Amino acid sequence: MTARVIDGKAFAAGLRERVAAAVAKLKAEHDLQPGLAVVLVGEDPASEIYVRSKAKQTVEAGMNSFEHKLPATTTQEELLAVVDQLNNDPKVHGILVQLPLPKQISEEAVINAIDPAKDVDGFHVINAGRLATGQSAMVPCTPFGCLLLIKDQLGDLSGKTAVVIGRSNIVGKPMAQLLLAESCTVTVAHSRTKDLPAVVRQADIVVAAVGRPLMVKGDWIKPGAVVVDVGINRIPAPEKGEGATRVVGDVDYAEVAEVAGAVTPVPGGVGPMTIACLLRNATVAACRQAGLPDPEGL
Ligand code: GUN
Repeated sequence: MTARVIDGKAFAAGLRERVAAAVAKLKAEHDLQPGLAVVLVGEDPASEIYVRSKAKQTVEAGMNSFEHKLPATTTQEELLAVVDQLNNDPKVHGILVQLPLPKQISEEAVINAIDPAKDVDGFHVINAGRLATGQSAMVPCTPFGCLLLIKDQLGDLSGKTAVVIGRSNIVGKPMAQLLLAESCTVTVAHSRTKDLPAVVRQADIVVAAVGRPLMVKGDWIKPGAVVVDVGINRIPAPEKGEGATRVVGDVDYAEVAEVAGAVTPVPGGVGPMTIACLLRNATVAACRQAGLPDPEGL
């Protein structure tokens, strides 16, 4: 058996179209243009590429894009002043401070300084608490994107067994909350989990978010399971020449595709969903701040 390949790139393109349609409607009917501000501190090349891509897609969706590039020597006080200015800017409905931050700045202090209503990353403790207690929240983009892909494969998730590998605040924990809210039976596995392959073998749904290249093997997977790979790992690729590298996920795709019912590729699976969900969150945030209902179809 060969698994279905989950086309995150195509799904994300569809979501971006629905966001653009919702944005056009908000402009036409309510004179409201959602605005998304992105703050980048320092010159991490991967973050710079990501931020440029975000800005481009924000504009393509018809939204306002605000970019703040600060030097690597920025103090916490200076960054908090920028966050405060964005919190108070009525044209800005969503604020994203790109992580990681330079070591002189506390990520926790900065995240929790963002107005929770504008926290399109869903990292603020208020949004984490709202998600955990079933209240209306801003939901972190990557796990939300994973959930959309899983529901697209399986429909109703009620009663399914889900194993999330990884317990980060950005992916693992919110992923577990989202699956629990869908009435899955959820296990969060991590580096101290005993007999991880046996735990994963129980799962109808596997989400791998650990950052270990090719860790999840074919014989860990229950036949027919849906496998979502959040990992983005760069490994040496001597077959491509000396010093060359390639990007792989946390899942050994070649093996797992022989057993699973459906699997996300890397690249082209979860990756493209994250920015699409960010645009979605910014649009939802703009509606909520204007006292409008959440847009339909998002
Ligand atoms: N760095 C890597 N992924 C993310 C993300 O989703 N949000 C933010 N703010 N920083 C990141």
